Amino acid sequence: MADRGVKRVCLAYSGGLDTSVILRWLIEEYGCEVVAYCADVGQEEELDGLPEKAQATGAQDCVIKDLREEFARDFVYPAVQGSAVYEGVYLLGTALARPLIAKHHVEVARATGCDAVAHGATGKGNDQVRFELTFRALAPELTIIAPWRDWDLRSRTDCMAYANKYEIPIEATLAKPYSIDRNLMHVSYEGGVLEDPWRAPDEDMFQTTVSPEAAPDEAEELVIGFEAGVPVSVDGKSLSPADLLHHLNQRAGRHGVGRVDMVENRFVGLKSRGVYETPGGTVLHAAHRALESITLDREVMHERDRFAPRFAELIYNGFWYSPEMDMMRAAIDSSQRNVTGDVRLKLYKGSVVILGRRSPVSLYSENLVTFEEDQGAYDQNDATGFIRLQGLRLSGRGEA
Ligand code: ARG
Repeated sequence: MADRGVKRVCLAYSGGLDTSVILRWLIEEYGCEVVAYCADVGQEEELDGLPEKAQATGAQDCVIKDLREEFARDFVYPAVQGSAVYEGVYLLGTALARPLIAKHHVEVARATGCDAVAHGATGKGNDQVRFELTFRALAPELTIIAPWRDWDLRSRTDCMAYANKYEIPIEATLAKPYSIDRNLMHVSYEGGVLEDPWRAPDEDMFQTTVSPEAAPDEAEELVIGFEAGVPVSVDGKSLSPADLLHHLNQRAGRHGVGRVDMVENRFVGLKSRGVYETPGGTVLHAAHRALESITLDREVMHERDRFAPRFAELIYNGFWYSPEMDMMRAAIDSSQRNVTGDVRLKLYKGSVVILGRRSPVSLYSENLVTFEEDQGAYDQNDATGFIRLQGLRLSGRGEA
C-alpha cells in the first residue's frame, strides 16, 4: 500500500452499503484512520447503532450531528424568500442540504484532527460539485477524496463482493430500485425505471405524498404566519423552523401536494430525469408569494423575480458559499423586511389554493383600487396624460 500522504480522513457516512465499503477502502488504500460523520438533515433513517456499526467497519470514531433546525432556518427559508426554483419546477431540496452537510463535515474534520475529507457522491452528479465547492470555500487545506471517481468498483455487485471480502457488516440488502435522497425538505428519486423519461413512476415509489386521486375529498384550510419573510406559525401556533416544515409536510403530503416530475440539466452537463416530493416546501413557496403580493413594492418584487432564477442556479450548482451568493442574499434579505402577515390556504387533491392574505404593513389599498367612489386620492383624469405619453412612440407605426 502506497503512502498517499493522508493520515486521518473524515468520511460522510450513512451506514449503507456504499459508505461502508468506502470506509474500509480508505483504510486499505490509504492506510489512514477514518472518522465517520453523519448529518441528520431529516432523512428519517435510523441513527441508533450507527457509531457501533462504523466502529465495526473500522472507524476510529463516529460523530452524528442533528442539523434539522439549521437546515430549515438557514437554507430552506432563505430559498423560499428568494423564490429559488430551478428550471421552473425544482425546489432544490437536495441542493440546499449539501452545503450545510459539507460545512459541518469540515467542522468535524477539524475538531477530530483530520487532514482529509471523503464523500460517497458519484462522478456523474451535482452532489460531488456541491460538497467539494463547499470544502474549497471553507477549508482549502483539506485533501478531498472521492472514491467513486478513483476506485475500480463499478457496480453494486462489486461493492457487495468487496463487503463480503472484508466482512463488512451490512444488512440484507435488496437491490435498490432508485437513487433516493431524502431530507426535511424533500425526497428525490432518480435512476432505475425513471431513466426512461417516457415511463411514469410507480405509485408505490412515493414516500411522503399520496397521489392526488387518493387524497381526501374534503379540502383542508390552514393559515401560515410570516415575519420579515420568515414563516413563524401555522394556525396561530408558533413553530420552530424544523417543526413547521415537518408539520406542513405531513398536512400537505396527505393531500398529494408537491410532486414534480422533470428532466433537468445537471451542472456537469448531463440531462437527468428526477422525481421529487416537496409537500411543505410547495405550500411555503405559494404562501410566501401570496404575502409578498400585498407587502412588496412593485419594483422590489420585479427586481427580485428577475434574479430569482440566477439565485436558484447558484444553489443548484453548489455556489452557496461564494461572493456572488453573499451579494444576492443581502439583496433578498433587504427585500423581505416588510413581508409580515398571514396567508390563508386550502389543500385539495394535489393543489394549494390561496384563499386570502392580510398584513399589518400591507401596501394594498382598497380605497385606491375600488370600483366604488374613492376618497379622491387617485384622479382618473391623470390616467389620460399618462397613457398619452406612453403612447407617443407607438403612434404612426401603422400595422408594422
Ligand atoms: N437531481 C437532484 C439535484 O441535483 C437530486 C439529486 C439527488 N441526489 C442523489 N444522490 N440521489 O439536486
